[in-house]
Amino acid sequence: MKQGILVTGAAGFIGSHVSEALIGRGHEVTGVDNFDPFYARDVKERNLSGLRKLPGFRFVEADVARDPMPLDGIEAIIHLAAKPGVRPSLDDPGSYMEANVTATARLIDAARRVGLSRIVFGSSSSVYGNATPAPFAEDTPAVSPISPYAASKRAGELLAHAFAHLYPLKIICLRFFTVYGPRQRPDLAIHKFTDLIARGRPVRMYGDGRVSATIPILPTAWTVSSPRSSGPLVRLPARSRRSIWAAATACASTA
Ligand SMILES: NC(=O)c1ccc[n+]([C@@H]2O[C@H](COP(=O)([O-])OP(=O)(O)OC[C@H]3O[C@@H](n4cnc5c(N)ncnc54)[C@H](O)[C@@H]3O)[C@@H](O)[C@H]2O)c1
Repeated sequence: MKQGILVTGAAGFIGSHVSEALIGRGHEVTGVDNFDPFYARDVKERNLSGLRKLPGFRFVEADVARDPMPLDGIEAIIHLAAKPGVRPSLDDPGSYMEANVTATARLIDAARRVGLSRIVFGSSSSVYGNATPAPFAEDTPAVSPISPYAASKRAGELLAHAFAHLYPLKIICLRFFTVYGPRQRPDLAIHKFTDLIARGRPVRMYGDGRVSATIPILPTAWTVSSPRSSGPLVRLPARSRRSIWAAATACASTA
């Protein structure tokens, strides 16, 4: 059944893929993004370029934390707008709270005021902090985030829980591990590896390369992360683990 869906962060890496996938399934998508300067607007405009040509897509440049949201005709929200990045959140924690926490509170509140009940929130595996040794146990309580970014994502989840307790809302929080694929954020390792290798430049290795990470691949990440429960929080199994060295080697063989 065709639905009107609001995707926040639609000019971003995951948001642009999700919007395309929804339109491919016959839905109408309203994309919102404020072109946060975390990385270049040009890159985000390129992410949007295919979407802008599709009749089922309309784009609104707006800040989720400050501006009214275009909720007319919307039946569900996929909230992916955020300031990402663990390390940069140490330099400017206040802006992370505004983009990731205030924006989430305002969006959920606006949704419930117009009777919208279905929201998906893009959270992060960083909420586990050091609480669970590799491989991750998704049912470990995420009570000890170790960066402002992680704390902001956990705060978003807790807001979702509080709103779902207070109002008839169904909010699903997806804890993404590092996602990669075309248009991956330029700050992420796989993007940096492939970019350097494609330009014939060496990849600098820090440590001994044995650090490993769980890395789902788009569009698989979205497919496996489809909501499977109406509870306020869903924990999905980790897909695969690779050492950073293996990831760099895989990039080299495909670049
Ligand atoms: N990419 C990953 O591996 C990963 C891992 C864990 C969690 N996440 C989460 O998934 C979501 C999408 O991540 P991404 O990698 O696509 O990041 P991204 O930076 O490419 O996309 C996020 C988009 O949100 C927009 N945005 C930021 N603040 C906004 C605001 N106040 N109002 C409107 N738009 C705003 C940005 O301009 C950007 O285009 C984020 O919530 C991120 O925290 C991503």
